[in-house]
Amino acid sequence: MAFREDFAWGVATAAYQIEGAAREGGRGDSVWDMLCRKPGAVFGGHNGDVADDHYHRYAEDIALMKALGVNAYRFSISWPRVIPEGVGPVNEAGLAFYDRLVDGLLEAGITPFATLFHWDLPTAIYHRGSWLNRDSADWFAEYTAVVADRLSDRVQHWMPQNEPQVFVQMGYGNGSHAPGDKLALGEVLRISHHVNLAHGKSVRALRDRCRLKPIIGCAPAVRCAHPATESAADIAAARAVVFGVDPGTVWSNTLFLDPLLLGKYPDYVEEIYGKAWPKFPDSDLAIIHTDLDFLGLNIYQGGQYRAGADGKPERVEYPVGGANTMFKWEVSPEVMYWTPKFLMERYGKPVYITENGCSSMDWVALDGGVHDGPRIDFLHRYLQQYKRLADEGGDLRGYFQWSLLDNFEWAEGYRERFGLIHVDYQTQKRTPKDSYYWYQNTIKQHGENL
Ligand code: FCB
Repeated sequence: MAFREDFAWGVATAAYQIEGAAREGGRGDSVWDMLCRKPGAVFGGHNGDVADDHYHRYAEDIALMKALGVNAYRFSISWPRVIPEGVGPVNEAGLAFYDRLVDGLLEAGITPFATLFHWDLPTAIYHRGSWLNRDSADWFAEYTAVVADRLSDRVQHWMPQNEPQVFVQMGYGNGSHAPGDKLALGEVLRISHHVNLAHGKSVRALRDRCRLKPIIGCAPAVRCAHPATESAADIAAARAVVFGVDPGTVWSNTLFLDPLLLGKYPDYVEEIYGKAWPKFPDSDLAIIHTDLDFLGLNIYQGGQYRAGADGKPERVEYPVGGANTMFKWEVSPEVMYWTPKFLMERYGKPVYITENGCSSMDWVALDGGVHDGPRIDFLHRYLQQYKRLADEGGDLRGYFQWSLLDNFEWAEGYRERFGLIHVDYQTQKRTPKDSYYWYQNTIKQHGENL
């Protein structure tokens, strides 16, 4: 067995990280524009005003994808580009941009996978209380309906939200991401519940409105782990970490996926969060619980665990001098086998890896190429582990490499490069890196080279 014949070989991006044209075409302000204006919030004072100028160069980028050989592309739609004030009047020019993008992709034989929210909340919604306001769930559903009405004759694959864990915890708990708030745990949890409610209402809107029967999934920031040995005790320890939570935070898979897929919050919520756990009507869970078609997983790194003497999972320390990406994320390919395996056991859904990639120290060499050996090795190792799961019969539908292009890496600005294609931010020149050609060959061989 290997990857299924109709396996999606893709790349992923997000609107704020690549589009630029921040004040063009009627786009409204987002909380990321707002955070970038705050002194000291983003490395180097960088912002997404121009980014990869993809708004103007999308045709060139589609041509690069076509040459790469991908058959799927995960991108996000900017809420403030479509509804500048978050609610109310729709911006025709914004929708027209996504029309052109989707048409171009289809013409190139690339299936669009659309994310509706990849963190660029309209600032006007922030002014109304953001996700802290329960009405945000309805506003998100209204925005979903506008996009579905326009694109669902051509787009069939949808993900309502990208990584709720990250935008809730870092946006409202630690304040390192937009909007940059540092709220008490009770408010952070209230936000996570409203975000789940928004997901449920968005899924309903898609099911009601889409013309092509929608195929809907999620894209959480997966809390990953793998066992130190293949003993039953160590495997149980790693599984417990994957299903667990870091106290005082929303760093958890189950806090988001259990209500979405099992219709209830995990048993630990009262014990771990105590009085901070918000009260909400029971009927909310029926709205949040929808039947998703796939489990999309964003996987980058995770620790190795063994059963501790007290029966609790114990982290095995990462070796001194062990491999790290530029971001200082541990290279831990085994999580690509174990973590989807655990999550498939719990939720019984087919899997896509909706993001996986590596930031490395890339530049254009004297010979004109970009020689990113570490990224090739990273992708090779992670895909090998993913293939192991496919070989064992896991229902794996696809893989999206993060990212097509170097881009605006949130609070890190432009200093972290994740692309298969190098971008010179002074000239907007795109240079495919060695990893682009490696991935091209991997796609051509359908992973047989792994
Ligand atoms: C993920 C985000 C994505 C990108 C990668 C590196 O958490 O979803 O936008 O920044 O990390």
